[in-house]
Amino acid sequence: MTDQASNQMWGGRFAAGPDAIMEAINASIGFDKRMAAQDIAGSRAHAAMLAATGVISDNDAEAIREGLLTVLSEIETGTFQFSTALEDIHMNVEARLKEVIGEPAGRLHTGRSRNDQVATDFKLWVRDQLDAAESGLLALIKALLGQAEAGADWVMPGFTHLQVAQPVTWGHHMMAYVEMFGRDLSRVRDARKRMNESPLGAAALAGTSFPIDRDMTAAALGFDRPAANSLDAVSDRDFALEFLSAASISAIHLSRFAEELVIWSSAQFRFVTLSDRFSTGSSIMPQKKNPDAAELIRAKVGRIFGANTALMMVMKGLPLAYSKDMQEDKEQVFDAADSWMLALAAMEGMVKDMTANREELAAAAGTGFSTATDLADWLVRVLGLPFRDAHHVTGSLVALAEGRGCDLPDLTLADMQNVHGEITQDVFTVLGVENSVNSRLSYGGTAPAQVRAQVARWTTILAG
Ligand code: ARG
Repeated sequence: MTDQASNQMWGGRFAAGPDAIMEAINASIGFDKRMAAQDIAGSRAHAAMLAATGVISDNDAEAIREGLLTVLSEIETGTFQFSTALEDIHMNVEARLKEVIGEPAGRLHTGRSRNDQVATDFKLWVRDQLDAAESGLLALIKALLGQAEAGADWVMPGFTHLQVAQPVTWGHHMMAYVEMFGRDLSRVRDARKRMNESPLGAAALAGTSFPIDRDMTAAALGFDRPAANSLDAVSDRDFALEFLSAASISAIHLSRFAEELVIWSSAQFRFVTLSDRFSTGSSIMPQKKNPDAAELIRAKVGRIFGANTALMMVMKGLPLAYSKDMQEDKEQVFDAADSWMLALAAMEGMVKDMTANREELAAAAGTGFSTATDLADWLVRVLGLPFRDAHHVTGSLVALAEGRGCDLPDLTLADMQNVHGEITQDVFTVLGVENSVNSRLSYGGTAPAQVRAQVARWTTILAG
């Protein structure tokens, strides 16, 4: 007989229970209780399959099924007593099942190991999060499409090096983020497809001698098929790494947009006004309205990318098959998932609520000689100058305007002709920002017509 203090699940060969420090480093129940619903779903599928294949009796399977439902409702209503001595969610559930239904509970773990069990539970959990990320991204993209449609022809400065470069449209800028979050969406869908193979039935590492039906459990849990190699099935955490990688890239996109919102909402820019609902005040400076949500979104990328790096490091040197190191996968993924979902929701809320300040945007659009390229293009198109010469002439005109402290359209025709004699009055038609953006009709360009076409394309994609 085993010592009373040894573990009731695996204590057969142990004479004494674990040291308190051992228990502390070993236990995962503090966090893996988040997979309770997945654990119970996996056990239900496994028990039903064991009965269908004749490994356990129908009566036992029915007792297990009902017992698991009782345990699930205890967990959902918060009456379940989690025990650190029982290490993890798998053993907590099984031990409670034993208390509820007695002897048949001991048959549930036939042809199964915690190794395939945890891989299955965790995959189901990550799969749910991929679905949540898909919804979050779709909602954010829709919010951006709303902004883009409303402001398809609102002019604003486009930047390179954060210096005014050429005028663009508000809609075009919003649609740039639609492309980014659209790629995030395709990464999420792609990862979900690839990860959707069931580890259940791989058992500890080698498969099992029981006549189990892995196709049946895979189908019951919504997997496309069972994973084809039992060693790989229990030691694969690619799905978690792909989740974290997709989350990291998406967090970078969120962070870049957040950075723009921080800049744009400042008193120096005033490009956007964030709603009160997504801003905070200062406890000392009454005038302040701070873009805290944007700043926190900007910061979340650190946690998410940190989780990605951490799990990569956990996995990089592990021999096949399961090692306990892999228990360190969950907290990283849980935290990254929470951060990503929250950041997506906060960004969606901010985008829906924010007001683009059309006048400020338009005023800024004309600063910084933003139509200099249009002037150079006119010299090429109308006067037939080589682009390099046109660039040089335009540079001289910019220098002249800068010296006078005025913008390009404020120069006189005489000023222009002093620099290049063949320039005509017609040149002034291309110096306005509206003309500039309207002319950029190349596919994917900033012209309102192009922006509207892209909004329509995305609306069709999302509807399909
Ligand atoms: N709590 C463990 C984990 O999260 C479950 C698997 C334990 N397997 C084992 N052979 N000790 O990875």
